[in-house]
Amino acid sequence: MNKRFFITTAIDYVNGQPHLGHAYEKVVTDVIARSRRSLGQEVFFLTGLDEHGQKVQQAAQAEGKSPQAYCDQLAADWQAFAKKLELTNDDFVRTTQPRHKEIVQAGLARVFQAGQIYRQTYEGFYSTREETFLTDKDRRPDGTFDPSYGEVIKLQEENYFFKLTEQQPWLIDYLEKNPSFVQPDYRRNEVLGFLKNNKLEDLCISRPAARLNWGIPLPFDKDYVTYVWFDALVNYISIPAAHGDAAVLSALKNSQPSTLNSQPALWPADVHVIGKDIVKFHAVYWPIMLKAMGLPLPKQILVHGWWQKDSAKISKSTGNIVDPVAVIDEWGLDAFRFYVLRELDIGPDGNWTDAGFKARYSAELANGLGNLVNRSLSMLKRYRNGVVPAKHDELANAAAKAAGETRACLQQNRLQAALHSVWGLITRANQYVDQTAPFKLAKDPAQAKRLDEVLYNLAETCRVLAVLLWPFLPGTAGKIYAQLGLTGAPDKLDAAGWGGLTAGHKIGEPAPLFPRKDDR
Ligand code: MSP
Repeated sequence: MNKRFFITTAIDYVNGQPHLGHAYEKVVTDVIARSRRSLGQEVFFLTGLDEHGQKVQQAAQAEGKSPQAYCDQLAADWQAFAKKLELTNDDFVRTTQPRHKEIVQAGLARVFQAGQIYRQTYEGFYSTREETFLTDKDRRPDGTFDPSYGEVIKLQEENYFFKLTEQQPWLIDYLEKNPSFVQPDYRRNEVLGFLKNNKLEDLCISRPAARLNWGIPLPFDKDYVTYVWFDALVNYISIPAAHGDAAVLSALKNSQPSTLNSQPALWPADVHVIGKDIVKFHAVYWPIMLKAMGLPLPKQILVHGWWQKDSAKISKSTGNIVDPVAVIDEWGLDAFRFYVLRELDIGPDGNWTDAGFKARYSAELANGLGNLVNRSLSMLKRYRNGVVPAKHDELANAAAKAAGETRACLQQNRLQAALHSVWGLITRANQYVDQTAPFKLAKDPAQAKRLDEVLYNLAETCRVLAVLLWPFLPGTAGKIYAQLGLTGAPDKLDAAGWGGLTAGHKIGEPAPLFPRKDDR
């Protein structure tokens, strides 16, 4: 059975509407998923929503709705948002779905049976806003708790705890032996530093149902629901189980191989794409949970940074936001996808500025890519009636270099570097137009052969660009293909080899890809 390349995003909390940060993570993951398909791999891309918890329960109450009705309404918005971004996700998980809840309970039962969960009375300071117990480490130098924790009360209650402490040594060992498990390297070093310098405390995984009932009941004690992470992280295996993944089903449901369906295997995940704020949950708690459930660990946790706008935190309350939908409606989806991918490498934090966005739109999309494609195809139309001349190889090396570099980058999820290479080819081809001056050649009948050569090189470069750009700017790549009169999608990297356009082929209608906007 084939193993598919299985890639996931974090699942977003349903409170509120999607913002730039959510959009960025989903676009990055989509580009990796498309890249792998382009490279010829079978892919399964999962995204979705994290719907349980106190905040949702409270928000629903405030609107006089049941939590489920509240989630259903917001889930429709988030699913529409995934479509707006043209994500190629193969499934969309909602943690309130029975298929997910069933596996959360199966996982909890298994870990409980293995003796890794115990019940204990706990007394401590509890932040109702953050739904979390605080320790002395969370106090500010003056001894108080940060106002962002909201009301902090002293609380004593019995809860269930997942044993983490005794797992610390093997996890350190695992991280040391598997440098690619957490990427980029500096994030891995942070996790290692944390593990080496702190004793892991056992993780509280329950809340009394009397206090929080919007959660999944513990299979071994119906007076409790499981709390946040034991629910949310499990989406990465519950959906594979729902698709018949043999590894998950045999670990959690004791299914015999004969009863398993023949879907390609998904687990272990190849990449979990997440933001820097939830590294500990993914790189510390999740591996320990998986080990306790008898499942292999994901191959990689790929950690991206956080966006700010105008060098300040994105915040609804201060109005410092970027509304991705508004940007897409005004500038087009591919302009949005291009800016976030080109501006920010996967890892560091980024800063959105409207001026920076417009500058990239104008220089790299309209004047760079758009201008190249439009003038190349318009000249072919005007001077040769849209008919491709005989093959010629003047730009073949430049195209092969860009294609080779792009392939290598895509294999390593280096998206920004891939765009660097592609734009190297665009710049080279635009210079070629200026140097060869086809508009002058066209005036001199003695130069007809030279003009044929130039026009072939330009049209073929446009075709190669469509193939290289497809994971990033699928709409634009499709338009370039259509304007070249080619059918199908430029969705296989193998098609980037030089010489795909054949003499005599008739192209379609050129049209601007990125209309210029005046900067008022
Ligand atoms: N529900 C949890 C994740 C559970 S995963 C099993 C959660 N949700 S979230 O809605 O708060 O965040 C979802 C993702 O968006 C996280 O990976 C987070 O890092 C990312 N981002 C939220 N704000 C962001 C920015 N300003 N910039 C970039 N990414 C950001 O955490």
